[in-house]
Amino acid sequence: MTDIATEQQDPGAEAAPTGTEEQATAAASGAAATERFRSKERAGAVDVDTARVNTLVTELLTAAHDIVRRHQVTYAEYDALKAWLIQVGADGEWPLFLDVWLEHVVEEVANDDRLGSKGTIEGPYYVPDSPRFTGGEGALPMRADEGGTPLLFQGRVTDVDGAALAGAEVEMWHADDDGLYSQFAPNLPQWNLRGTVVTDAQGCFRIHTVQPAPYQIPTDGSCGRLIAAAGWHAWRPAHLHLKVSAPGRQRVTTQLYFKGGSHVADDVASAVKPELILDPTPTADGSGSEVTYDFVLDRV
Ligand code: DHB
Ligand code: FE
Repeated sequence: MTDIATEQQDPGAEAAPTGTEEQATAAASGAAATERFRSKERAGAVDVDTARVNTLVTELLTAAHDIVRRHQVTYAEYDALKAWLIQVGADGEWPLFLDVWLEHVVEEVANDDRLGSKGTIEGPYYVPDSPRFTGGEGALPMRADEGGTPLLFQGRVTDVDGAALAGAEVEMWHADDDGLYSQFAPNLPQWNLRGTVVTDAQGCFRIHTVQPAPYQIPTDGSCGRLIAAAGWHAWRPAHLHLKVSAPGRQRVTTQLYFKGGSHVADDVASAVKPELILDPTPTADGSGSEVTYDFVLDRV
């Protein structure tokens, strides 16, 4: 049996960094994601209703009991589970685990009857208060030699009746060409590839960025070990994260993917929906690609 809690998939992955180069590790991004979650408003607003806790936890445990009986789970397997759960906490990977394998269903239930643009999971790497660009246009902060094809992402924000929402906030964040998110991986400028563009009087926005690469969730921590032990893969398709909001409207938290991209059909986080796939076209001057995507926000 595989010891999924402690077995090293890649013995080189945790070697001491050479020189002063700090490496992106599951433990570092996990710790940052855990810290970020603790500081967000929703995390403190837990409403503990005894009857609800009783129902949900009893059903969860009953499902686990059924699995143990049905599959004749052994003490060795029980201990492997215990060791792995302990290690998920030690690695700070609870935000990662939950956002990859559970959040998509919570999102589905939460937004089931919402009109307008489709949402999907937020994931663990959102940071509020990114640099703001008014007047409908902005370029996400990036390094002079930022990798990836330049991408112009533009569109319009309206309400469900088609009326323009001027002053709406379009927040975008995404991984760089190496699949790394600023503030969760070392050596990246604080706000790299994160920004908020405020729509103009017509509800329009234009965001200049670069096209991200497919993203692999960290493979050198507990989630990576689970993936290897189960024979799965760790990939998410390349994606842009967005939050679109306006006063008096429901905020949409979503992601957009790229037509024909790797893993659009087998996202490890199960967060792709047909409405969320972009098909950018080359710009006339050959400098990159552009795509138009409009957002429709439901009433609160
Ligand atoms: C994870 C990362 C993402 O970029 C994302 O969108 C969803 C989940 C993760 O590593 O858990
Ligand atoms: Fe992401």
